Amino acid sequence: MSLNTEKSASVSEALDTRITVRQFLDKPVPEGVLRSLLEKAMRSPSGGNLQPWKLHIMTGDTLEAFKKEAVEITLAGKVEEPTHPAYPSPLWEPQRSWRYKLGEDMYALLGIPRENKMGRLVWFAQNAKFFEAPVGIIITGDKRLGAPQHMDIGILIQSMMLLAREAGLHTAPQGWWRNWSSVCHKHLDIAETDEVMVGMAIGYGDPDANVNNLYADRADLDEVATFYS
Ligand SMILES: Cc1cc2nc3c(=O)[nH]c(=O)nc-3n(C[C@H](O)[C@H](O)[C@H](O)COP(=O)(O)O)c2cc1C
Repeated sequence: MSLNTEKSASVSEALDTRITVRQFLDKPVPEGVLRSLLEKAMRSPSGGNLQPWKLHIMTGDTLEAFKKEAVEITLAGKVEEPTHPAYPSPLWEPQRSWRYKLGEDMYALLGIPRENKMGRLVWFAQNAKFFEAPVGIIITGDKRLGAPQHMDIGILIQSMMLLAREAGLHTAPQGWWRNWSSVCHKHLDIAETDEVMVGMAIGYGDPDANVNNLYADRADLDEVATFYS
C-alpha cells in the first residue's frame, strides 16, 4: 500500500491514511502549520481536565544537536532504565504474535533478514534521528501520574496524528524516547519531577521509501469486541 500524502478531508480519511511513517522528506514544516496543529490538539480531552502533558518541540539546530547525541549513545550500545517499559514481559498471545508480525513485515520491506541482527539494530537506531523528520517532539508529564493520565497523553497524541494528516503531514509516535531520559533532560527544560512519556516525529512522509508502504494489520472488530443486547 503506497503512502497517501494528500491532506485528509475527514476524520475517517485521516484515520485511514495515518500510518507510522519511518522515513521523512528533508522538507521543513512551516512554523504556522505546526503551531496551528498543536493549538488544535490542545482541545484533546483528559480525565478531570488535568491536561497532564508538557510538550517540548524541537526544530533546527536544537533538533540536530539532540539527534546527534541520541544517535551516538544508541550506536555506542549504551542502555538506560526506561521511564516505563514498552511492553509487559513476557508478552502473551495474541499480542506476542501481533508484535512479532509487525517486526517481520517491517524488516521484510526493508530487506533486512532476521539473521542480520546488527542490520536490524542499526536500522532501529533511525528512531534516534526521529526518522529524519524536521520536527521532533518529546512529551513529558509528572512522575506521579498514573495509568489514567497516561491514557490522556495517548488521546493527545492521537489528536496530533490525525491533525497532522489534515495538514498533509505524517507522524511517528515514539515510545523509543522513554529509553533516553538523559538526552531529553540534558537538552530540554524538563523539571526533575517530570519524566519522558512519549516522543513524536512530524514531517512530510517520503512516498518513495519502502518502509512507508507498511500498512500494519489489525484484528477484526469481532476478535476484540463483544456486543451485548
Ligand atoms: C504510543 C506509541 C509508541 C510507539 N513507539 C514506536 C517507536 O518507538 N518506534 C517505532 O518505530 N514505532 C513506534 N510506534 C508505532 C507502532 O509500532 C505502530 O503504531 C503499530 O505497529 C501500528 O502501525 P501503524 O501506526 O503504522 O498503523 C508506536 C506507537 C504508539 C501508539
